[in-house]
Amino acid sequence: MATPPRRLLATSLLSLLLLLLVLVLLHHDSPRAAAAAVTPSSLGDDLLGAARAPGFAAWLRGLRRRIHERPELAFQEHRTSELVRAELDAIGVPYAWPVAQTGVVATIAGGGGSDGPVVALRADMDALPLQELVDWEHKSKESGKMHACGHDAHTTMLLGAAKLLHARKDDLKGTVRLVFQPGEEGHAGAYHILREGVLDDVSAIFGLHVDPGLPVGTVSSRPGPFLAASGRFLVTITGKGGHAAGPQDAVDPIVAASSAIVSLQMLVAREIDPLQSAVVSVTFMKGGDAHNVIPEKVSFGGTFRSLTTEGFSYLMKRIKEIIEAHATVHRCTAVIDFMQEKLRPYPATVNDEGMYHHAREVAETMLGQDNVRIGAQLMGAEDFSFYAQKFAGAFFFIGVHNTSMEAMHPLHSPYFVIDEDVLPVGAAFHAAVAMEYLIKHTTAAN
Ligand code: NI
Repeated sequence: MATPPRRLLATSLLSLLLLLLVLVLLHHDSPRAAAAAVTPSSLGDDLLGAARAPGFAAWLRGLRRRIHERPELAFQEHRTSELVRAELDAIGVPYAWPVAQTGVVATIAGGGGSDGPVVALRADMDALPLQELVDWEHKSKESGKMHACGHDAHTTMLLGAAKLLHARKDDLKGTVRLVFQPGEEGHAGAYHILREGVLDDVSAIFGLHVDPGLPVGTVSSRPGPFLAASGRFLVTITGKGGHAAGPQDAVDPIVAASSAIVSLQMLVAREIDPLQSAVVSVTFMKGGDAHNVIPEKVSFGGTFRSLTTEGFSYLMKRIKEIIEAHATVHRCTAVIDFMQEKLRPYPATVNDEGMYHHAREVAETMLGQDNVRIGAQLMGAEDFSFYAQKFAGAFFFIGVHNTSMEAMHPLHSPYFVIDEDVLPVGAAFHAAVAMEYLIKHTTAAN
C-alpha cells in the first residue's frame, strides 16, 4: 500500500528530528550521562548535607566532647564502649560485643538481605597516657589521660556514619560492618579484633585518622606503602659485677652495651638501600648506680621501623645478630625481647591501589578535587595495617586544622586540638565510601 504524501512528509520530518537528537546526544551529553551512571555524584552531597545539618552536627559535637572528657587507655575503653553501644541502640543498629574485650562491631545490612558484598569501616577508641594542657570547657577529666591522637573524633565519625547508613539502609547493596576497636596505641587492638573472626566475610576495609597538618574539609592518602612497620626491642646484657678499681675481675656489660649501640647506628647507614626508608633508634639505657661499681647488668631498648614488611624483618634479624655478637666479643650474654606476644610489632600500612582510588574518587566528588591530596609516606605506624594485610584496604588522613587557630600542635601533643567541623565530613566520607563500594561491587557481581 502506497504511503499518502502528508504522512510521508511527517515521517521524514520525524526521522530527521530523531537523527538530529541522536547526533546531539552523541556529540554532547552521552559521556557525561555514562559517567553519571557509574558514579552517582549526588550521594556524597546528600550524605554531607545530612551530616552538616545543624541537629546532626550538634549531636556529633556532643558525642566527641563526652568521649574527650573521659579518655581511657588501651583495652580499658569500658565507658567509651558503653557509650558506643548506647548510641547504636538508640539508632537501631545491631552489634557484636565484647570483641577483643571492649571492642564493638556493628552491622548494617542492606534491604536485599544478606546477599552482596561486605565492607568494613574502622575507628579506634583508646586515648594516651598524657596530661591535657588545653584549657577549655570539655578538657579531660581523667588525670594523666588525654585524647591527643583524635580517637575521640574517629569514634564519633563512625557513629555518625552508622546513623547516616542506617537511614539509607534500604539503598545499601550489601552489608557494612563498623569496627569500634580498642588498643590502637601500641597494643595492636586490630590484631585482636581479627583473631575473633567477626570480620571473616569482609572484602574491603577503610579507615580515617585526623591530621592537624591538613585544613578541615580536606583528606590525603597515597597508594601502596603509606605508614611504617614498627617494632620495639628490649635488651638485657649480663656480665659480672665488681669493683670499678679491678676491672680484670669483672665482666663489664656497659662496654658491651655501648659497643652494640654504636654498631646499631651503622645498620641503617651501611646495610639499607639509601632509597628505602628505615629507622633504628635506641631510646633508653639503664645500668649501674655507683661511681665505683661495675654493674652486673645493663638494659637498653628502642624502636625500629621500615616501610616494607621485608625491610622490617631484615632489621629485626640484624638487630639481634649485632647485639648478640657484641655481647659475645665482650664476654657477656644478651637477651633480646621484641615483645611480639605482649605488644606485637605493627606491619607496614600498605594501601590497596583499587581501594585507594575508590576512596579518592568518592572524596573528590564530595569535597572537590583540590581538597584531596597525595599524602607523604610517614615513619609513624598504625595497626590498621593488620586489616590491610588481610583485606583490600585504604587508610586516609582527614584535616582538622582551622586557619583561625593560633598554633598547630601535632598528634600526641598535650596541646592537641581539632576543628570539630571535621566530624560531619568524616561521617559522610565514611558512609559514602561504603555505599559506593557496595554499589560498584554489586554491579560488578551482576
Ligand atoms: Ni592515632
